[in-house]
Amino acid sequence: MTLAPARTPMLEVTGLTRSFGGLTAVNDCAFRVEDPITGIIGPNGAGKSTLIALLSGTLMADSGTILFGGCDITKLAAHERARAGLSRTFQISRQFHTLSVLENLMVAAPSADDRLVAALLERRTMRRRDRETTVRALEVLDDVGLYAKRNDYAGSLSGGQMRLLEIARAIVAAPKMVLLDEPTAGVNPVLIARVEEQLHRMADSGTRVLLVEHNLKVVERLCSHVIVVASGSVIASGTMADHRANDAVVRAYLGTGEA
Ligand SMILES: Nc1ncnc2c1ncn2[C@@H]1O[C@H](COP(=O)(O)OP(=O)(O)OP(=O)(O)O)[C@@H](O)[C@H]1O
Ligand SMILES: [Mg+2]
Repeated sequence: MTLAPARTPMLEVTGLTRSFGGLTAVNDCAFRVEDPITGIIGPNGAGKSTLIALLSGTLMADSGTILFGGCDITKLAAHERARAGLSRTFQISRQFHTLSVLENLMVAAPSADDRLVAALLERRTMRRRDRETTVRALEVLDDVGLYAKRNDYAGSLSGGQMRLLEIARAIVAAPKMVLLDEPTAGVNPVLIARVEEQLHRMADSGTRVLLVEHNLKVVERLCSHVIVVASGSVIASGTMADHRANDAVVRAYLGTGEA
């Protein structure tokens, strides 16, 4: 096996295609992700969430290739991609609503094993060696502004706080790349600023961020590179300034009033 050249992009997608029955939701998509924070924008139903699902492995592509750090991960299952360092944030599922905010972070840590998860879910006492994980989790909760909520049930958080907890889980897991689908949807302006701050911090600490987002002000502030998807295809790739000057992008999305 040859070593990947130094300029290999973190993520490189070619010919990615996925249909549902007669509908091709993602159609021959090709793009690279190299920047610290990359955005994906486009109209409703464009195929953005399907694209994220194909990248994370929760959906399998019909055809095309996904290279992550130069390795072909197209056929890997979601948990194998996560182990390779590519993971998406997931909504805190119902099962985890009855864990505390702190415990939700602890089960996301790379050191967390099935035993810790079982112990927390069954309310058994933690072992001493899990204390390090606790200290790290508390630091992250402090960073995201959820420290005061650490002992509350995750299920009692507001929508915006829940999104912050999801991001905090990604910070603790420290993947090479994190995928987020509309991290500011339904989040109030104060918490949107905090979500942005945390995504910046994640990028600064070396995790590449790829996010789908409808709030173009957020995209403008966060993303140095933006991929535009319409009707399942990538129609443009560049900065938001490039896109605002691009008639095809304005017609497909920016001019619709959503911007
Ligand atoms: N599991 C599925 N089964 C059938 N059709 C699907 C499925 N998931 C998505 N679709 C269809 O694929 C197309 C793309 O959907 P997708 O959710 O990826 O769009 P999106 O860009 O994320 O839209 P939005 O901005 O509204 O979130 C839509 O026409 C949608 O109805
Ligand atoms: Mg979507």
